[in-house]
Amino acid sequence: MATKPVLCSIFILILSQILMFQIQATHHNNDDDDGEEYKFLQSVDHNPRQRMKREKLSHFKFYWHDILTGQNPSAVTIVSPPRLMANGFGMMRMMDNPLTLGPELGSKLVGRAQGIYASASQEEIGLLMTMNLAFTEGKYNGSTITVMGRNPVLHTVREMPVIGGSGLFRFARGYAQARTQWFDMNSGDATVEYNVYVLHY
Ligand SMILES: *[C@@H]1O[C@H](CO)[C@@H](O)[C@H](O)[C@H]1NC(C)=O
Repeated sequence: MATKPVLCSIFILILSQILMFQIQATHHNNDDDDGEEYKFLQSVDHNPRQRMKREKLSHFKFYWHDILTGQNPSAVTIVSPPRLMANGFGMMRMMDNPLTLGPELGSKLVGRAQGIYASASQEEIGLLMTMNLAFTEGKYNGSTITVMGRNPVLHTVREMPVIGGSGLFRFARGYAQARTQWFDMNSGDATVEYNVYVLHY
């Protein structure tokens, strides 16, 4: 007799359909309970030909002014080492230094270097620089480049990595070269020429 297994399999088929429907219904109810659906992580299409524009290399040249004295200093000491240390080791300053197009402080302002530099070397005068170059010039107004690196200030050329950026400098990478243009031994005020090479979109 072949009807028994046939009936049996039809019964199983119907049962599985009912179960499937119930599982779907439960899922639907759960969705309702959660309300909005949150996604923590989603991968996005990473095709350079489709994403934004072509990556380009830009070269910026400007002057960085560290003004410690006078009515309106642009950098202030926020940490003094607890005792006299070689090469000022342990000192920290907060800066909001003007960036100008030319070497004169009065020349066109293109942005500000905001951040902290700290004396991090006992062997020589060597600073740890952490600063955001916040541009105000033209289409770059509001975009930033983040520089973090080592700055042994007595060397002719100091190179520091560009570790990122915002606005027009999203995904930025590159490097900055600093050359002291002028330094006042008495006040500590300095003007430094910066050449920044940055890859961005
Ligand atoms: C830069 O943008 C700010 C705010 O968006 C604006 O107040 C300022 O005038 C702009 N600066 C220049 C130089 O365009």
